[in-house]
Amino acid sequence: MVPPADDIAHFDLAHPPAGFIDDPFPWYAALRDTDPIHRCPDGSYLVTRYDDCLQVYRNSNFSSDKRRLFRPKFGASPLFSHHTTSLVFNDPPYHTRVRSTLAEALKPKTIEPTIVALERVVAQLLDELAQRFAGGHEVDLIEHFASRVPVEIISSLLTVPEEDRDNLRRWSLAILGALEPELTAEQLDLGNRAVTEFLDYLRALVKYRRSHPSGAPNDVLSTLTALHDRGELRETELLHNCIFLLNAGHETTTNLIGNGVHCLLTESGARQHLRQRPASIKGAIEETLRFASPNQLGNREVSATTRIGGVTFEPGTQITLCIGAANRDATQFDNPDRFDIERTPNHHLAFASGIHACVGMSLARIEGKVAIGALLEQFPTLELARPPPVRQRIRFRGFERLDTGVSASR
Ligand code: HEM
Repeated sequence: MVPPADDIAHFDLAHPPAGFIDDPFPWYAALRDTDPIHRCPDGSYLVTRYDDCLQVYRNSNFSSDKRRLFRPKFGASPLFSHHTTSLVFNDPPYHTRVRSTLAEALKPKTIEPTIVALERVVAQLLDELAQRFAGGHEVDLIEHFASRVPVEIISSLLTVPEEDRDNLRRWSLAILGALEPELTAEQLDLGNRAVTEFLDYLRALVKYRRSHPSGAPNDVLSTLTALHDRGELRETELLHNCIFLLNAGHETTTNLIGNGVHCLLTESGARQHLRQRPASIKGAIEETLRFASPNQLGNREVSATTRIGGVTFEPGTQITLCIGAANRDATQFDNPDRFDIERTPNHHLAFASGIHACVGMSLARIEGKVAIGALLEQFPTLELARPPPVRQRIRFRGFERLDTGVSASR
């Protein structure tokens, strides 16, 4: 369905048309073709072409500081403190200082011990899945697999004891939910309470770890605590960035796993191809990131007059970068609506670009590869029980649930 020109002219991301979240791609295509730097009714701009998004990401005239944007939305609240202390919503020099620490803690070499933990977690979850599938039962792979992997992994980096991990997942969803363009009072309240509870929890955990060191080689909590002790990170910065780490890697990676399984089970020939060439799992992860980007939107504020794509942006203007649309731009990707696990090159923007490019991308890629690879190997007859409902969020693309079965036991 090609949206009518008049609907494109009036497109409003804050109030998207019916069905947009289920299938935004026809809208993205029409915007890219006819109105690639679209002015929304609130005066912000939505950028949908690959080259324009890349230029914004790499231009220091576009700020990530969200204080102006979030003050009217959150007021003086825990959510405001949290989101404006996270490194992703800050500019240098604060951003540079915190990023270098997290980048060190998440670089491929440092996360090697985490991969061992990951393989163990995935093997254990697969055993649990086998029991659930037994007797022909359906299993929701979001609840029982995709969402469990990232929480376990980030919890292990933050040395959170197993019995506390369910709380982390709940808090993370509430805090991220508050980033949707339009919020209900209930979502706001839920998000604020989640920040407060999470901060209290981490404060107690930091105190506990001082007298009971984890001894783990990849203990990110202790690395950050050491910086705090050396006066390089204030306590609020330490705690909020631990929360941010969980939030950044939780829903995104859940959706990478969920969307990847869905693409491989539904996109023509993909699964067969992977069966014949298991090494293509790496390409399958990259193609999922492009084709069904877990994070569909990014935001910037103009800090100095700049011209991009023929439009002059004045300071203070809000910009939304549409990663999901850029990743289907035919000027960058041949046959962009085709899911092709052998696609080369595949320079998608799923992890953004520039100084804020995702610090956890190596970890996310490994999580996706290990989780999806092992799942399809262990359950070669895995199939969808029915088309899954898309989670009704604009920023994060994923499924509410992914009901599946294995035919041998059905
Ligand atoms: C498939 C999974 C993931 C996706 C799609 C994703 C996507 C992104 C994107 C698009 C950004 C840039 C945001 C912006 O500039 O506006 C970002 C930043 C970030 N991500 Fe990820 N991410 C994923 C997983 C992870 C994981 C597992 C972690 C860590 C455990 C992580 C940590 C971060 C951090 C710390 C930043 C902030 C970087 C900065 O501001 O300099 N991410 N991510």
